[in-house]
Amino acid sequence: MGLRLGDTAPDFEADTTEGKIHFHDWIGDSWVVLFSHPADFTPVCTTELGETAKLKKEFAKRNVKVIALSVDSVEDHKSWIGDIDETQGCHVDYPIIGDTDRKVSHLYDMLHPGEGDSSTVRSVFLIDPNKKIRMTLTYPKSAGRNFDEILRVIDSIQLTDNYKVATPVNWRDGDDVIIVPTLSDEEAKKLFPKGWKTVKPYLRVTKQPNK
Ligand code: BEZ
Repeated sequence: MGLRLGDTAPDFEADTTEGKIHFHDWIGDSWVVLFSHPADFTPVCTTELGETAKLKKEFAKRNVKVIALSVDSVEDHKSWIGDIDETQGCHVDYPIIGDTDRKVSHLYDMLHPGEGDSSTVRSVFLIDPNKKIRMTLTYPKSAGRNFDEILRVIDSIQLTDNYKVATPVNWRDGDDVIIVPTLSDEEAKKLFPKGWKTVKPYLRVTKQPNK
């Protein structure tokens, strides 16, 4: 059985470019994006890890720590970081797990034999401070991920954790949101005093409440 949303993220100890970590201790009170890539010294992965470094401030604003993983060694990661920094104009200063024994890759089901060799596919796990898995993504090795989408879904989850709203298709931070259908109009009047537009009784659109 794979990991599901709402499951506790499996705990582990691992060697990383920043030293040994005990995952749940390392998470602390932060949100975490744990993401795997197929291999060091490969082109698409080089762009992905560079982009992640460049988004450092965006992740920090959302109280998110990032941690990468592949089945390469920590020594390989350390020497590849030089290439990433040089070619992508960034400074990779988040940990990369060296999962040479594939312990974490198996725990998080990141090995998909139908996708070629025994390296990890492009998995993403968003984990909240309670260590619960809140979002997963799985991309093939050939397609680099859209890290703006990862930030977008973090914004949505952090918003909807705090307000009785959901976010519509292609929503971005600052756009209008939808009042959850389980809330009666009576209750909604108290929570959304500025009002809303009723498109259908189940589709009530309002301004983003924290803006
Ligand atoms: C890449 O990062 O470029 C890559 C890695 C494995 C398979 C395909 C592409």
